[in-house]
Amino acid sequence: MSKLKSVFHCTECGHESVKWIGCCPGCSTWNSFTEKKIAVATTKQSFTQYINPEKTGTPILLRDILSSEKPRMLSGIDEWDRVVGGGIIPGSFIVITGDPGVGKSTLLLQVAEGLAQNHVIQYFSSEESLTQVKQRAIRLNVTSENIFFSDEAGLEAIVEHIKRQKPDVVILDSIQNCFLLSQPQAFPGTVAQLREAAFFLMRVAKEQEISIIITGHITKDGQMAGPKLLEHMVDAVFYLQGEDRWQTRILRSQKNRFGTINEIGFFEMEEKGLVPVSNINQQLLDQTSESPGSALVCTIEGTRPLLLELQALTVESKFGMPQRVVTGVDSKTVVLIAAILEKYLHIPFSRQDIFFKVSGGVKMKDAGSDMGIALALLSSYFQKPLPLHSLALGELTLTGQLKSSTHMKTRMKEAEKFGIKQLLVADTVASNSDVKKYGFKNVYQLLSLFPEQESEQAQPSKRVQP
Ligand code: TYD
Ligand code: MG
Repeated sequence: MSKLKSVFHCTECGHESVKWIGCCPGCSTWNSFTEKKIAVATTKQSFTQYINPEKTGTPILLRDILSSEKPRMLSGIDEWDRVVGGGIIPGSFIVITGDPGVGKSTLLLQVAEGLAQNHVIQYFSSEESLTQVKQRAIRLNVTSENIFFSDEAGLEAIVEHIKRQKPDVVILDSIQNCFLLSQPQAFPGTVAQLREAAFFLMRVAKEQEISIIITGHITKDGQMAGPKLLEHMVDAVFYLQGEDRWQTRILRSQKNRFGTINEIGFFEMEEKGLVPVSNINQQLLDQTSESPGSALVCTIEGTRPLLLELQALTVESKFGMPQRVVTGVDSKTVVLIAAILEKYLHIPFSRQDIFFKVSGGVKMKDAGSDMGIALALLSSYFQKPLPLHSLALGELTLTGQLKSSTHMKTRMKEAEKFGIKQLLVADTVASNSDVKKYGFKNVYQLLSLFPEQESEQAQPSKRVQP
């Protein structure tokens, strides 16, 4: 037996409560709570009635599960295919997100054209009219006969079209503009509606084995629900980020059930859409300055080694509270490394303003760049460049020791490929290549790269050798 119980939930954000509340604690909306009766199972109840005799779902052995693994769908756009984990898996549910205007619709239309060489695509543009889509398609030279467009925004109708035509891939741009007729009271884009819509689409993707790619905006406004909410529901989340000044767009996998996370792909926004940049390391290297404050590192983002220039500027602070302006890397890492250098080398970073950035607009997540950060700071402080064509690799401990980082072989191979002549690494690292190796045991030994300053500043009695 089951009995009925009352629950109240907010029509705006879905917040649930056992009693009626005037102002929702979740989204601060007034008068948004409605009552719903739900059946609650009692503990003595038997659930035999819920078992479908045709599809019992009795647990079976791994060897009895049929695995008709379908091949991944490739678009031919290398940077996209690699970031999604080597092509799209049939039946996957993917979300692409990014600031408005960063190029999500452009990228998806190009991906659709690529996929349409071998697959059937349905493209629902709930955000733009078909005329606007056509104009973009002309600009991007999209000519495939395998893409079917619609500006339908009602989700029930969209699902019906999907079930009828059974395409291989569905693109929905954007989920925030879609609405559910079954929930007329909720405004498109609100959390409750977004969650419902995503769940609805996920079921279609899994049941029909159709890949669904949706786009969502990141908004700071509380009224529009952000795609963060969808993260746990979907198979993969990709962020398209851009630094307008560079015209570079970076596609990063934030979550991917079928591939590596933090994998990144580079594109450049041009007249005719996004152009993949496959030789990004050469481009990044061409822009390096090799002047004081600059250090080259090799980070591993996903499976890809990237050669990045770190730039530091340290100047004596004019205020009591020195500034730390850091972009591209966690500011706490830079502050921590400055503190380690101050502790063991007695360099007064706590009285210096520190400005720090990473070239190419990349947001670095890898810990193997500690050595590069330390050397960039020292190089700026002493106003002396690091050795020509050198690359810094390694992690720093809180006790001031240098350690080798993960994936050392991959990083060193990449460095060699791009003509790096010298490696600045922990002394435990074995180098069997032609690249010259400078090994350091601890931060104190890093000072040997700045000889004049070392003799001028050296006060061995004061300095603690770690
Ligand atoms: P869009 O894909 O509409 O961004 P989103 O869907 O993320 O909101 O692209 C937006 C910008 O890209 C727009 O400012 C114009 C520019 N753009 C180009 O520079 N070249 C092109 O070929 C296209 C289609 C767009
Ligand atoms: Mg768009």
